[in-house]
Amino acid sequence: MDVLISPVTAADVEAIAALARVVWQHTYPGIISQQQIDFMLAQRYQPPRMREELTMADIWWDQLTLDGQLAGFVSCLLSGQPGEMKLDKLYVDPQRQRMGIGARLVDHVVARALAVGCQTLILAVNKTNQQAIAAYRKQGFAIRESVCVDIGGGFVMDDFIMARTLPERAAGS
Ligand SMILES: CC(C)(COP(=O)(O)OP(=O)(O)OC[C@H]1O[C@@H](n2cnc3c(N)ncnc32)[C@H](O)[C@@H]1OP(=O)(O)O)[C@@H](O)C(=O)NCCC(=O)NCCS
Repeated sequence: MDVLISPVTAADVEAIAALARVVWQHTYPGIISQQQIDFMLAQRYQPPRMREELTMADIWWDQLTLDGQLAGFVSCLLSGQPGEMKLDKLYVDPQRQRMGIGARLVDHVVARALAVGCQTLILAVNKTNQQAIAAYRKQGFAIRESVCVDIGGGFVMDDFIMARTLPERAAGS
């Protein structure tokens, strides 16, 4: 099977947004309300907003394809704290989960974080998203703090912030 990780382009954003809806509908009922799912998808996956993010120097979107078929995507950004990158989105097609795709996308973000001189990778995950928390623990993340963030529309994100300290880059690498 041909596995490729490549940058998301402007031509890909509709397919990414469609996959996001599939994964969210598979994952979040029971964790957050349908109203909140719809609100957050509209907030984060509007093609014009995604295209704008693609032009920004401190945000990266990447996609993973299996034999040319979109199977997952990831985005990361500089958090604003020195030496810290945030893994902002990580979504794998429900039909393709537990195949190592999430781990490969995290490895990709770790390499990018190291390449831009970051020592810490953080993320926010819903406190009851046990599947993702398990996957992140396996990837070396640990819970750093508990937050509850107002995201507008009468909704909050009740999250754990997880963090992973990255290895120092070897000299010359
Ligand atoms: C969380 C997610 C990105 C993980 O991606 P994935 O491709 O399924 O994960 P991997 O196959 O790389 O799994 C790596 C390891 O994480 C752990 N893991 C992954 N999913 C797990 C689950 N459902 N339950 C327990 N452990 C899990 C396992 O240890 C796994 O290794 P193993 O399969 O050899 O036991 C994916 O399940 C997903 O898209 N979930 C829905 C969306 C989501 O919650 N995203 C995160 C938002 S913060």
